[in-house]
Amino acid sequence: MNNKIVITNDGSHSIFNPEINETYHSKHGAIVEAEYVFIKNGLLAENKKKFNILEVGFGTGLNALLTLQKSQQKEIDINYHGIELYPVLEKSYSQLNFTELIGEEKSKLLQLHECKWEEEQVLNNFFKLTKNKISLENYTTKTKFDIIYFDAFSPEKQPKLWTAEIFKNMYNLLNKDGFLVTYCAKGIVKRTMKAVGFEIIVLDGPPGKRQMTRANKTTSQK
Ligand SMILES: C[S@@+](CC[C@H](N)C(=O)[O-])C[C@H]1O[C@@H](n2cnc3c(N)ncnc32)[C@H](O)[C@@H]1O
Repeated sequence: MNNKIVITNDGSHSIFNPEINETYHSKHGAIVEAEYVFIKNGLLAENKKKFNILEVGFGTGLNALLTLQKSQQKEIDINYHGIELYPVLEKSYSQLNFTELIGEEKSKLLQLHECKWEEEQVLNNFFKLTKNKISLENYTTKTKFDIIYFDAFSPEKQPKLWTAEIFKNMYNLLNKDGFLVTYCAKGIVKRTMKAVGFEIIVLDGPPGKRQMTRANKTTSQK
């Protein structure tokens, strides 16, 4: 892999994957996008103090880092599961500037990357992390989630991760009031999610994007 670190418009880093010609985050700002899509419209959209969260595409660890920070600030109990088929290498994650921009110790990001895979790790009083090195297509678990952060590469670049089969699995992995959030608001994606039972809510997008999607597991359907 010839991944390169790039700087996005809010000054935060992202990774560019030349094989699929796509960055891990919006060029308009990696932190701004993650805060908006996954923290504001994900974690903080529900006034609860305990969440099981699944992240699809753990990548740089940015979403996990921001969630960890919020969990400590707001005393929210988080059981975080992240799946990733191609873990970011030390030579890349060690350079990422996220912690300095959000006022956290560098060690917090390093710990997210360096803790063991395939086993639950207790990182502090509020945050437990389980990382699984597996393809989303093969992922199964007994855990049910309150929120899914669906942060795969775009449907243009990885269409096999945006199919009805995948979204049916996501639906089944959610608790009855659970929901999925994603930066993507393409019509075909929303229609596919709707077809497997999700209720689709279109929200304003982060800077540079018109819309994003929240998909609710509706209690009327099984
Ligand atoms: C858009 S990037 C986002 C990563 C991450 N959320 C972040 O903030 O850095 C998508 C991620 O999905 C991972 N990925 C690609 N194919 C996958 C697959 N089949 N199963 C699981 N993860 C995959 C990529 O390696 C990449 O880390």
